[in-house]
Amino acid sequence: MVQHKRYNKLLKRLKVGVFVVIVVAVVGYMYWDVELNPSSSTAQTAGGLEKTLVLGTDPGFKPFEYKQGQQTVGFDIDLAREIAKDTNRSLQIEEIAFDGLLPALQAGRIDLIAAGMTVTSERKQNAEFSNSYYTATQKVIVPKVGSVVVGIEDLAGKRIGVQLGTTGDTLAREINGAKVVQLQSTSSVMQELNSRRIDAAIMDNGPASQYLVTNPGLTMLSRNLSREEYAIAIRKGNTKLLKEVNDSIAKMKRDGRYDALVKKYFGAAKL
Ligand code: ARG
Repeated sequence: MVQHKRYNKLLKRLKVGVFVVIVVAVVGYMYWDVELNPSSSTAQTAGGLEKTLVLGTDPGFKPFEYKQGQQTVGFDIDLAREIAKDTNRSLQIEEIAFDGLLPALQAGRIDLIAAGMTVTSERKQNAEFSNSYYTATQKVIVPKVGSVVVGIEDLAGKRIGVQLGTTGDTLAREINGAKVVQLQSTSSVMQELNSRRIDAAIMDNGPASQYLVTNPGLTMLSRNLSREEYAIAIRKGNTKLLKEVNDSIAKMKRDGRYDALVKKYFGAAKL
């Protein structure tokens, strides 16, 4: 009887012991699999999204890229999302000041740039450009009242604000005797103009029109300084991605996604 009782107790302990060992082994294996053995991780490959497309952009350029709370949104962001979808990748956004975008692309920190970036022959030497996805112009913004600049010819010798490294920057520096004030962002260019520390600003028509809505004291000259094409920049030599991006843009133009984007951000289908 006593023997039997002792035997039962032993059996119970053994069972508990085996159970504990199994639990430890299973939990331990799961932990090892997820944390220590990344090659077996299923998270990345589950939806076939084993590749990530890293997008470089510079928000503050409404409606192409701007912040909505913590979110980065805009025409270019949606465009890049569709490209990522079409090429079966997930999209990751890196915010970089405009003049740092091409260096970041060359250094391999980002895979592509969608930042209302104009195709220029100089930039083409350092990057591939997709087919154009938007036609823009450069505009001159001035105060509505008491402006010393009322026509393009008045820009000579004046203080002109631009975003550093943009085509507006290049245009301003070609103006006779102009004192070009280069700033990191388009919003600081507008601040300088509002406080009259500059006489005029040169920037792309899209963001210029947006700023006029919220700055009733400013206006823009009707004449354009230039006509430009926006395209996606890709690292020099990455012809595979270039083709994928061009195919995706062409597809979007065919299936209505492109028109839907134009409508979403510009109100009406133009171009
Ligand atoms: N289109 C002009 C350029 O290529 C200005 C672009 C500025 N873009 C921006 N996201 N801040 O130089």
